[in-house]
Amino acid sequence: MRIAVAGKGGAGKTTICATAARLMARSGHRVVAIDGDTNPNLHAAIGVDAAAEAPFLPTSLVSRRFDGPRLTAPVDEVLDRHSVPAPDGVRLVRMGMPQHADEGCMCSAHATVSAFLADLGDDAGTVTLLDLEASPEHLSRGTARHSDVLLLVAEPYYRSLEAVRLQASLAAETSIGRVAVVANKCRQPPDFDAIEEYCDRHGLELAGALPWSEAVLEADGASRPLLDHAPGDPVVGALDTLFDALVAGSAVARAEAGV
Ligand SMILES: Nc1ncnc2c1ncn2[C@@H]1O[C@H](COP(=O)(O)OP(=O)(O)OP(=O)(O)O)[C@@H](O)[C@H]1O
Ligand SMILES: [Mg+2]
Repeated sequence: MRIAVAGKGGAGKTTICATAARLMARSGHRVVAIDGDTNPNLHAAIGVDAAAEAPFLPTSLVSRRFDGPRLTAPVDEVLDRHSVPAPDGVRLVRMGMPQHADEGCMCSAHATVSAFLADLGDDAGTVTLLDLEASPEHLSRGTARHSDVLLLVAEPYYRSLEAVRLQASLAAETSIGRVAVVANKCRQPPDFDAIEEYCDRHGLELAGALPWSEAVLEADGASRPLLDHAPGDPVVGALDTLFDALVAGSAVARAEAGV
């Protein structure tokens, strides 16, 4: 199952991907975490120190066929060669980032992630988490087009919700099967109510909610993964419940469809 996580800048995408990846691995899933941000930082949130040694997916891996970008080598081979081990057995893959000023656009790097997701397929035994960048450009480039679920992270303020609505409307033009909102940084019940009301008004599915937590900020400040810094934090519990339900929902849907 491939889950992409998007939303406005600073909404909590990387925190969610990093923590959920390790939680799903602890639940026994084979997990691949992809940093799909050209300003990469998933490695730090997940607990991979040797960032310099974590290789980027080379853009030479992509072949642009009629059905969109695909890999030129078997996906398991690409995974073996271009991932680094992260805590709890997660495998971390990183999209390329600019190496020099004025080098031009990052289309090829996005195409590599798109190809990688396509070739991973919707293998029931693997949970893939894709941490996207804040710009909605990943939707115009089709970076996450092979995701099974697109989660849009919303903070309880208008501009964050408007960003989610824009991305949801673009995602509706793709073949991504499920687009759902996750409310984050809810300090008080009215924060959640505001997001719920917005989702109702605009026909958006609200899949779950995460509270505001000082421990998340402390973990960032200490450069430690949330799961190591505060394993009992309510955000961790809420993510466990949310991702368990997403993955279980997918398994039920597959069984019903006989695939
Ligand atoms: N539930 C939460 N409670 C408090 N702070 C949070 C919560 N979730 C995330 N944060 C904080 O919000 C900030 C942004 O988080 P994060 O880097 O995960 O967001 P992002 O959406 O990936 O950002 P970017 O758009 O830059 O990639 C960080 O300081 C993080 O600690
Ligand atoms: Mg991020």
